[in-house]
Amino acid sequence: MEQDTLSNLTEISSIREMLSSSGYAEEAINYFLTKPNLGPLQGANHVTELTGPCGDTMKCFIKVDKGRIADAKYQVLGCPGAVSAAMALADIVRGMTLSEALEVKDRDVFRRLVQIPDQKQHCIRLAVKTLEKAIKEYEQEQTDKAA
Ligand code: FES
Repeated sequence: MEQDTLSNLTEISSIREMLSSSGYAEEAINYFLTKPNLGPLQGANHVTELTGPCGDTMKCFIKVDKGRIADAKYQVLGCPGAVSAAMALADIVRGMTLSEALEVKDRDVFRRLVQIPDQKQHCIRLAVKTLEKAIKEYEQEQTDKAA
């Protein structure tokens, strides 16, 4: 058991080192390792999925209460950039109105992550687009219900 804990710690520190030397800031690495907003989300009002041009896929769950994002979570089949971006974005939009959440830009996520490799910027795009899709589909559903 202790041996397991030790080998996990060694593994985590080697992942940290690899990500750090690839250009990920500590904030981004922490999001990737702790995955604080990993789905599924119990009681989500809407779930949607999007695949990026790289082939990676995200699933975004939103719980909406009185027009605000009460909670958001993601499941990610993708790279560390995708995981960290999705986890950070869920933190950013929690508590926002739907229209405020739609205004969140890639650079806001980047700021929260502090640094990720240049070639991973599109991973942030995928997280933002998946959330946009979830919100727009949710809004459409509400409009359809009201009609
Ligand atoms: Fe596909 Fe990062 S490489 S989302």
